[in-house]
Amino acid sequence: MRTESGRIIHLTDYRPTDFVLERVDLTFELDPTETKCTSRMLFHRREGAAVDAPLVLDGDELKMTGLLFDGMPMEPGRFTEDNDTLTIRELPETAAFEITVDTVINPEANTQLMGLYRTNGIYCTQCEAEGFRRITYFYDRPDVLCVYTVNIIADKESCPLLLSNGNFLGGAGYGEGKHFAAWFDPHPKPSYLFALVAGDLGVVEDTFTTMSGREVALKIYVEHGKEPRAAYAMDALKRSMKWDEEVFSREYDLDIFMVVAVSDFNMGAMENKGLNVFNDKYVLADPETATDADYANIEAIIAHEYFHNWTGNRITCRDWFQLCLKEGLTVYRDHEFSADQRSRAVKRVAEVRHLKSEQFPEDAGPLAHPVRPTKYREINNFYTTTVYEKGAEVTRMIATILGRDLFKKGMDLYFERHDGDAATIEDFVKCFEDASGRDLGQFSLWYHQAGTPLVTVSSAFDQAKGTFTLALEQMVPPTPGQSAKEPMHIPLRFGLLLPDGSEATPASIDGVEVTGDVLHLTKRKQVATVTGLDARPVVTLNRDFSAPINLHFERTPADLAHIARHDRDLFARWQALNDLALPNLVEASRNARAGTAIAVNSLLSDTLIEIAADETLEPAFRAQILALPSEADIARELGSNNDPDAIRAGREAVLAFLASEGKALFATLFERHDGKGSFTPDAASAGRRALRNAALPFLAIADGQPARAAQAFADSDNMTDLSAALGVLAHRFPEAEETQAALETFRARFAENALVLDKWFAIQATIPGEGALGRVQQLMQSPHFNAANPNRVRALVGTFAFSNPTGFNRLDGEGYRFLASQILQIDPKNPQLAARILTSMRSWRSLEGVRAEHALNALRRIAAGEKLSADVADIVERMLN
Ligand code: PHE
Ligand code: ZN
Repeated sequence: MRTESGRIIHLTDYRPTDFVLERVDLTFELDPTETKCTSRMLFHRREGAAVDAPLVLDGDELKMTGLLFDGMPMEPGRFTEDNDTLTIRELPETAAFEITVDTVINPEANTQLMGLYRTNGIYCTQCEAEGFRRITYFYDRPDVLCVYTVNIIADKESCPLLLSNGNFLGGAGYGEGKHFAAWFDPHPKPSYLFALVAGDLGVVEDTFTTMSGREVALKIYVEHGKEPRAAYAMDALKRSMKWDEEVFSREYDLDIFMVVAVSDFNMGAMENKGLNVFNDKYVLADPETATDADYANIEAIIAHEYFHNWTGNRITCRDWFQLCLKEGLTVYRDHEFSADQRSRAVKRVAEVRHLKSEQFPEDAGPLAHPVRPTKYREINNFYTTTVYEKGAEVTRMIATILGRDLFKKGMDLYFERHDGDAATIEDFVKCFEDASGRDLGQFSLWYHQAGTPLVTVSSAFDQAKGTFTLALEQMVPPTPGQSAKEPMHIPLRFGLLLPDGSEATPASIDGVEVTGDVLHLTKRKQVATVTGLDARPVVTLNRDFSAPINLHFERTPADLAHIARHDRDLFARWQALNDLALPNLVEASRNARAGTAIAVNSLLSDTLIEIAADETLEPAFRAQILALPSEADIARELGSNNDPDAIRAGREAVLAFLASEGKALFATLFERHDGKGSFTPDAASAGRRALRNAALPFLAIADGQPARAAQAFADSDNMTDLSAALGVLAHRFPEAEETQAALETFRARFAENALVLDKWFAIQATIPGEGALGRVQQLMQSPHFNAANPNRVRALVGTFAFSNPTGFNRLDGEGYRFLASQILQIDPKNPQLAARILTSMRSWRSLEGVRAEHALNALRRIAAGEKLSADVADIVERMLN
């Protein structure tokens, strides 16, 4: 089976291997149920390693059929094989030696989608984090880098295409109906970056000329007939390659770069050297089937995987505790790329919304862990939003603290110093210290302390002296395993707005270090004193979300409205409006629960309507202004004893008020941007669609009937507008005839396109209220559903559990019981998928008593499951602790 359940791996246990692996030659003879793999590895004993140290290789569910030492069968007494290791003794003290391992693999039976598996007739591998050990015995750890030669033998007809990492060496026929291909990757790499793909696929080809003038062949492989839908991914790839040259001076380093789209994949995509493997959802797009959000995701993920070539592959991680070294940094890079390709402020708003809705709850619950953890039981469970998104924010803060030029200098030093290394977070931070001369010791706590810091601020103005004081206090809440925390280095971008909206330039600021527009908070309590002001300023704090914190700053609605109207930082304007709306929504939810009257601050509705109507602002930004804090945002703000039904009721009342106040405007926005005409996926056109589709739900509320949304559905000529209209119909008028008809039209039109039907599943899974569970259960019986495909399971079961607060958190606990039985059914087949979906219950302790009790029982039922995977056991136990 998998890693012994219960065994914990500690960062402090790290030590290098006893042997150095110089090179490996792999030969695969592919067969659906009996693939033969031969691995020849050249080793020598590491200098300083004990002379009698054995060679211990990793394995997982392997069937070994041969073992050679320097070409001769190994005597039985010299090796032992147990569940997950192969141990070989009596090896040479200094001389190099060759070990050959033969294994037999059953790709067809591999439902975990780790190691070598088959998806839609295609052979494909997934090795990160510990999948290579399911192919052969190996030093399956990121600090063992070597060069790979790969020979693939397969049936010519069913597998015309034979791919692996690096450059193509050659190929030829190979006896009756077979052929072979050989690949060589000159760049030393760890096993998790190995990949093999074989099958019959269509291809889209292009080329890219690098900054030093080398021509690189670009190939994107997709199912036959889907080639036109890969055009946008190819365009995004070329833009990514260019951007990395311009912004990070990084050039591609092989003659060929390949992307393969597969339909069964546990994650988004994988950065295997020269041969990226993608979930097809993040490759395929055309106007008829993809939304603007799909296009944006494809662009971001193509870029992300491409950027890994330098941040991840050329410089990799010493061990899996350093995962954020490649992931946090690469997410930061893809964020910057998208910001440059689109609207920076709108992109930042979307990032912060995502961070707050995904990472903040993780950091506030039982699964909280540092960006650089110190222990894990199952590494698969650490591909988290904390490692990825908070890791990206930590990188962004380094850039904020050092400034653009020193950050670039630090990055250049990192590439220069660590190219070819398996590095650590300490190595990374040291490059910025050396490049800038700035001590980042305290800053590094961001990697080590879990929990979202809370910064509490109060201010006072002395008119007579013209001084303004800002008292700041920081607190990092306790998290599992970390009860006491040190104060952190928190960089806060700020500005002082005057009554006319212009910005004050103070004579001096004392008590807190200031560089440019950044206030450096470093102590538990600090007071900043600003002098030389004629009028009371309105402080705008944490502009651009310069630090990933919770900010408690008692400000009047008038001050917030002032920022929302005037700040030069668009992000800060959105944030101020959000800060104005949230207390109102919280109050409304409390009133709904108590059965008392709900009032809406007219400053909120006036400001919101004014900004949404402002034609000088880009439509995409105005669309973000119209998207009020979500039910989950309100739940997080309330913190405990939550009743999702009351939260929804309160929010709905506020929406209804806004809908009636702004009806005229919403109608104008909706009609003006009618979305028809020839579709282009660019950011400006997407923004116009976003604004129209942000207005539609308000209109539907004001109308109280489905006609307008039904008309919008009928009129749509692209997937963005079509799915938006279907969403409004389903969520606002689930029982209406128009809705039933639209759902059926959509299903019939896209019956052959599983990725589009995922939207159909997701829209129905998020219809609020008690009825959702029954709908989900019924949809699971649909012929379009496939419990073995991760995308289908996520679209239906995952979306229901993660994104339908009232439907999932039913008072009778049926939602949790359903999830428990699903987890127990998915786990034996695909533990990673089961564990991931189970994290939807991570905030169960913040529910009110009756629901929390039901949730607890469901978790206990999972924990009591027989033969739980390490993945699910780890998550459920942490959630119960
Ligand atoms: N390394 C991949 C990425 O971030 C994610 C991934 C992890 C994919 C594990 C598969 C398995 O791009
Ligand atoms: Zn990544």
